[in-house]
Amino acid sequence: MVDRETAVRLIGKALEARERAYAPYSRFRVGAALLTEDGKIYTGCNIENAAYGPSNCAERTAFFKAVSEGERSFRAIAVAGAGEDGNGKFAAPCGICRQVMAEFCRPEEFDVVIANEAGEYYVRTLGELLPEGFGPENLK
Ligand code: THU
Repeated sequence: MVDRETAVRLIGKALEARERAYAPYSRFRVGAALLTEDGKIYTGCNIENAAYGPSNCAERTAFFKAVSEGERSFRAIAVAGAGEDGNGKFAAPCGICRQVMAEFCRPEEFDVVIANEAGEYYVRTLGELLPEGFGPENLK
């Protein structure tokens, strides 16, 4: 599991990215910070759209930024999401984001750090969040 120092560092970056969320429709602002195996961090925020459907979650923004820069190996992601009255609540990644993670990450080795605005957090492996998922191995 990611150590506490790493989790706290990622949460700090996720909260910074959350400041850049474009969420005029839901007003639910989310930030993410994705750690590569070699120690780089890619951030993302949710980006909504007037047509709703094209909206993108913070986690996928971070993954797509990283993958488009050539990254393929990931260690952990922190996600911090809350509405205007956050109230210390936590928001775990949506199903589509879990599936995107499953494309690039091993279920038992990739940690998802789920944080609130106060910096409190808990950690789940991707395998815990998406048990018996369908992934690249199934097509081999
Ligand atoms: N959202 C994320 O960015 N990540 C999640 O894990 C859950 C939901 C975004 C999508 C939408 O812009 C807003 O939060 C409300 O669903």
